[in-house]
Amino acid sequence: MADTDAQKQENRIFPPPPDFARNATISGMDAYKAMCAEADRDYEGFWAKLAKDNLAWHKPFSKTLNESNAPFYKWFEDGQLNVSYNCLDRNLENGNADKTAIIFEADDGKVTRVTYRELHERVCKLANALKSIGIKKGDRVVIYMPMSVEGIAAMQACARIGATHSVVFGGFSAKSLQERIIDAGAVAVITADEQARGGKHLPLKAIVDEAIGMGGCDAVRNVIIYRRTGGNINLVRGRDVWLHELVDKQPASCDPEWVEAEHPLFILYTSGSTGKPKGVQHSSAGYLLWALLTMKWTFDIKPQDIFWCTADIGWVTGHTYITYGPLAAGATQIVFEGVPTYPNAGRFWDMIQKHKATIFYTAPTAIRSLIKAADADAQVHPNQYDLSSLRLLGSVGEPINPEAWMWYYRNVGRERCPVVDTFWQTETGGHMITPLPGATPLVPGSCTLPLPGIMAAVVDETGQALPNGQGGILVVKRPWPSMIRTIWGDPERFKKSYFPEELGGKTYLAGDGAVRDEKTGYFTITGRIDDVLNVSGHRMGTMEIESALVANALVAEAAVVGKPDETTGEAICAFVVLKRARPSGDEARQIAKELRDWVAKEIGPIAKPKEIRFGDNLPKTRSGKIMRRLLRVLAKGEEITQDVSTLENPAILEQLKQS
Ligand code: WT7
Repeated sequence: MADTDAQKQENRIFPPPPDFARNATISGMDAYKAMCAEADRDYEGFWAKLAKDNLAWHKPFSKTLNESNAPFYKWFEDGQLNVSYNCLDRNLENGNADKTAIIFEADDGKVTRVTYRELHERVCKLANALKSIGIKKGDRVVIYMPMSVEGIAAMQACARIGATHSVVFGGFSAKSLQERIIDAGAVAVITADEQARGGKHLPLKAIVDEAIGMGGCDAVRNVIIYRRTGGNINLVRGRDVWLHELVDKQPASCDPEWVEAEHPLFILYTSGSTGKPKGVQHSSAGYLLWALLTMKWTFDIKPQDIFWCTADIGWVTGHTYITYGPLAAGATQIVFEGVPTYPNAGRFWDMIQKHKATIFYTAPTAIRSLIKAADADAQVHPNQYDLSSLRLLGSVGEPINPEAWMWYYRNVGRERCPVVDTFWQTETGGHMITPLPGATPLVPGSCTLPLPGIMAAVVDETGQALPNGQGGILVVKRPWPSMIRTIWGDPERFKKSYFPEELGGKTYLAGDGAVRDEKTGYFTITGRIDDVLNVSGHRMGTMEIESALVANALVAEAAVVGKPDETTGEAICAFVVLKRARPSGDEARQIAKELRDWVAKEIGPIAKPKEIRFGDNLPKTRSGKIMRRLLRVLAKGEEITQDVSTLENPAILEQLKQS
């Protein structure tokens, strides 16, 4: 994809549809600019007003921002609230009790609806159940569950009693799960017997058993199991309990535990440049505030909307735009258990038609794979479905190439619906740079402008501002309420990763490159500047995959790089040196398969390298440093034009090119 060129030349502009703009929460660029000016004029006052107007406080805060221990910023510090109260009870109080909170569609198509009243009761019962087994404020609970009402309820129940949840995506292996359970010091794991996806049943409880069996999870007292499929599981006496058995006997109400604004709502592990995943710690009040505000601003959420975010609760998108944002906004949302290609690649379009979704939020990878599917089979083309209910489309997780943007805009939105390309990260808690659908003229391939109150900028390595048109690194110059608070258990790494000394120690380093358009000032994200890959919107550390590979008895050395991929955005390409002679032919294919399965076991299927090349060695400088930049060129299948005179072993390039 010649996207960078395409982006540079991109001059199509799509202003907001007048009807949309007229009714939008933020209507027109003047309104947007006025909000930005307000934040500029009185930064703390801007946030204080929003926090007072949008959240229900048990104890109001008197101080907005505490910067005395930067970069460990504190927001609304002396205030107290409860996140679950804000998401559920508040809806019972303001007339939404009988409104549908969740339209759940199972993998097999079965639909269940849950009202706010019912969800409140389920969460209360589950919260009481957690309390009954001794879980209390400040404890960590790992959630390893399928997409389900129960998964959302489990997160909300933790929030209700002040326990800090750490959701682990169902696609992670036992080993990854074990590492996260240990790092978080979890006292309980909530899981399901099995997960149903794409017509297949995948064991979850068995993986939890395996993870705990690996040792080190001594803090785990209980494993709570939601019965999803009825598949066979092994119950460990004294440790394992069925969720329904625990919940059934509980009272239907549970007083929320009032927590300090900064109380850690959750830890979510994500990949960084070194081998070990980082436990991104989020706050309660600041996080919830932004989850709610971005629902209003970016998604223009209205009472009658049917909102659908297709993410999994195992990722931050599922936290902010399934479990917290939509409920805090009192919205009706669709929650989907399955995959976009089962029973066929028309599943998303069919569900939008059936449930009359009005706002649809998905990832570029999904769009690209559905474009392919629609090209191959006209029956699953979105034009076969009635998508007239839609009024707004969103994209998240990776850059959306202008071709995919245009297809989405034309074929799904029928040129009526704005497309919001939302740039953000696990660490930012919610949207950062995104169009506002009723204000911002859209340019395919650009996430356009920062939200009001978000002081994003493009700078050089020393922190100097760069003029528009010049590519540099993306930073945020001031703290914002939903930002990461620390890396769980590793405050030093938090400082080093996100507030490096070179930038003065108070500027947030996003880890992405960016460039602003000379005329409009619009941002385009140019990709990660660290060793992090984005495969199908899943964030993977190259070092993590390398560590997994070298842990295999056959492997002496490994280097992992990303290469552009038409569907998944980036694909994982591994260069491997074995302890034995370099294999070829069938043997090479056999070992590559073995290593791929190994990585799936070590990290999870999402980390499987697409391509593995074997060499006698890797290209290294005389001081022994692996030249990854050359490997990236080789992975792309391009000729090396760079200077290779500093290489110890230039001949190796020829070998790695051919293998
Ligand atoms: C990384 C964050 C956003 C929540 C889900 C992923 C990339 C994300 C965009 C976008 C270009 C994007 C960045 C970022 N990214 N959204 N709209 N345009 N790039 O969260 O797993 O923490 O990954 O995803 O590289 O740093 P994440």
